[in-house]
Amino acid sequence: MAKDLAALREECLQCKRCGLWETRHNVVFGVGNEHAKVMFIGEGPGENEDLQGEPFVGRAGQLLDKMLAAVELRREDIYIANIVKCRPPKNRDPLPEEQEECIRWLDEQLEIMNPRLIVCLGRIAAARIMNPNIKISKEHGQWIEKDGRLMMAMLHPAALLRNPNQKPEAFEDFLRLKEKLDALED
Ligand code: URA
Repeated sequence: MAKDLAALREECLQCKRCGLWETRHNVVFGVGNEHAKVMFIGEGPGENEDLQGEPFVGRAGQLLDKMLAAVELRREDIYIANIVKCRPPKNRDPLPEEQEECIRWLDEQLEIMNPRLIVCLGRIAAARIMNPNIKISKEHGQWIEKDGRLMMAMLHPAALLRNPNQKPEAFEDFLRLKEKLDALED
């Protein structure tokens, strides 16, 4: 019988597949509605996420919540996970070998939850899930179909905190997501 998400999570919390387990405080498995039509995928936990064991709980997460609220979505309407489940030291980019080991957890999450839509937050997630050569500054907001699912890259909320002038175009992408979700109803 297929594993359920709770069982997968229990296994993941023990993970030592790559070296990141040595410096982590918590494995950040993912949270939200496991029946959601959309899964958001970020890069990896930062300091706050590592300490609390939940994705997107720091400043970037607060901005994400605001953007969701702007299109009448709440955390309970979505599921959020990351490419790597443990914090890379000093928030460096996750190494290719760390991504390679960790992506197996995400693959299983996707298999169990089978979301209709995927939103990749930032370049690292979009490159890993959608297209290794993606130019996120140009291609964010565009739906592509891959592996039977529709997916879109969005600008990472941490990047929007650094470049607030990009918020309007990021908001357009949330509107596109909302439109697609509404069109999927039944
Ligand atoms: N940035 C990410 O990509 N993921 C998190 O969980 C937090 C910040």
